[in-house]
Parts: sequence; structure tokens; C-alpha cells
Amino acid sequence: MTLSADATDSETFVTDFADAVLTGLSCKAKNIPCRFLYDARGSELFEDITRLDEYYPTRTEIGLLGAHGNEIAKRAGKSCAVVEFGSGSSRKTHILLEHMKSATAYVPIDIDDAVLHEAAARLEQEFPDIPIYPVHADFSQGIELPQEIGDAPRLGFFPGSTIGNFEMDAAADFLASAGRLLGKGSSLLIGADLQKDLDILLPAYDDAAGVTADFTLNLIHRINRELAGNLDVECFAHKVIYNDRVGRIEIYIESLCDQDAEIMGRQFSFDVGDHIHVENSHKYTLPQFRELAREAGWETDQVWSDADELFSLHFLSNP
Ligand code: TRP
Repeated sequence: MTLSADATDSETFVTDFADAVLTGLSCKAKNIPCRFLYDARGSELFEDITRLDEYYPTRTEIGLLGAHGNEIAKRAGKSCAVVEFGSGSSRKTHILLEHMKSATAYVPIDIDDAVLHEAAARLEQEFPDIPIYPVHADFSQGIELPQEIGDAPRLGFFPGSTIGNFEMDAAADFLASAGRLLGKGSSLLIGADLQKDLDILLPAYDDAAGVTADFTLNLIHRINRELAGNLDVECFAHKVIYNDRVGRIEIYIESLCDQDAEIMGRQFSFDVGDHIHVENSHKYTLPQFRELAREAGWETDQVWSDADELFSLHFLSNP
């Protein structure tokens, strides 16, 4: 059963994208928020990233979910509603729900309507007894849960270290608002990527085959497609640095030449070496992440990590 509870229509997203691009490219420090990386093509390319040899987070987190699924289910309680933030293709959800067959509902929330409904349709076949209520929304904005899930205890699921894509303040705000949305007595299963050697970290965001570069540069194509842009894609490059002071990967689109371009009838110029900031990915130590959760009102009940301490999975509770 798939019931739609659209929180926003696609019109809102288009205007939002136009605003974000026109405003972000007019700033001194040019930037475009990372959520705009995930249009249909972007979501497809991101799926490809998650299967790259260099991109350790996905397979490591999947390993942790498989290894500790029974304990996760036990902690979350038998009949709970699973609410996933930024569900994407819901590949990890499958593993979680395998261990939680008596879940009373699954609520995937995603910004990409097509990916959301495709994943919901697939999970519905795999788990016919779990009602699915997709919510098409940007989970970093205010959202409401579908009334149909009633007052069953809730387990939030936020894998992929997507939390690390927020600025530190925004990460704390997100955790606090997830606590309010899910309510007292709820729990949250959240993935957090860990600090590590740069020879493992950097290739994860700049792979040899150039899939990550394609993913980032899709944003330029998207501007051309959706906002009547005439940017020269060949004159931009994907650039990754590790910001040691903040402990995060930073992803930029760098202009390779001096160029003028038009977007929605407006002129923009880029000097050679100009950077458009498109993504941050914070890397944590275990005590840092526990503290971040605590500040937002969550208690850490359990932390799982792989033998190489590449990635961590945290089971939090909202007392
Ligand atoms: N949440 C993912 C991460 O921080 C997002 C991501 C992976 C990403 N690879 C990327 C974002 C490349 C931009 C570019 O690991």
C-alpha cells in the first residue's frame, strides 16, 4: 500500500533552485546548497558513487546494519514506525526492515519525487505487510509526519552520514528538530563518518573513474537545463580539499578559465580559479559525535563501528 502525503509540489523546488543559484552565484563566496545536486540525474550518479571501490561509507554502513540488525530491532521495539530522512533508493532500508518485519509503518522522506516513489513501490513488494507513506519534501525544512502512522513509537533512520553535510550548527538544529518531529520516547539510528587518513578519505570524494566529478558537475548541466543557462561545462572542474581546521571534506566547482555566462537572462562572470562551494562532509571522532547528539537532546545508547573504524552507526534515544 503506497499512500502519498506530498508536503510540497515540484513548483516550489524549481523556484527554490532558481533563487538559490541566482543568489548563491551573486555572493562573494559563490555557493549553491548541496540539496540541488540531487535531481533525477544527480540521484542516479550518487547511486553510482555509493558503489565505487573508493567510496567506503556505503558498504561499511551496510555491513554494520547487517551485523547489528537484530540488536537494533530489539532496541527500537517490535511495532514501531520507521521514518527515514533522505531515503533515496532505500537500499539500506531493506536491510533494516528485514530485521523489523513487524514495523507498523515506513515513512520515507526525500526531495526527489521519482526516486521516492520508485523505492516505495519496490519496498511495498518486498514488505507487503508494512504500510508505506512517502513524503516528498526537503527534510532540512519543516515537515509533518503522515497522520496515518498514529502514535506507534518511532525510529528515525538517517544513514549515509548525511548529517555531516550540514554545517555544525545546522546539524545540531536538525537533530533537535528530528527529536521534536519523532517525539519523546523515540529513537534515532544515525550514520556518522569518522576522521581518518587522507589517502583513504580524499579518493572517496575524487575517484579515479571521475564519477564524483560527474556528480558535482551535473549541477552545471542542471543550471543549463532548468534555468536557461549557457555555462560551458568544459570550463569547470570538480575540486576536493580537506579542511583540517573544521575536520571536513569541502567540494567545489572551480572555473578553469575567465568566462561570462547567462542564467535566466542575467549575466555572471567567473575568473579562472573562482570556486563555487557546493558541499561539505564533516568527519567526526566518536566523542565529538556523542557530544553533538547530547547537545541536541539525544542520549547515545549504543555505537557500532567497523574493525578499521572507518564509519560509525549510533543508536540514540529521546528521553
Ligand atoms: N553524504 C555523502 C557524504 O558526505 C554525500 C556525498 C558523497 C557527496 N559523495 C559526494 C556529495 C560527492 C558531493 C559530492 O559522503
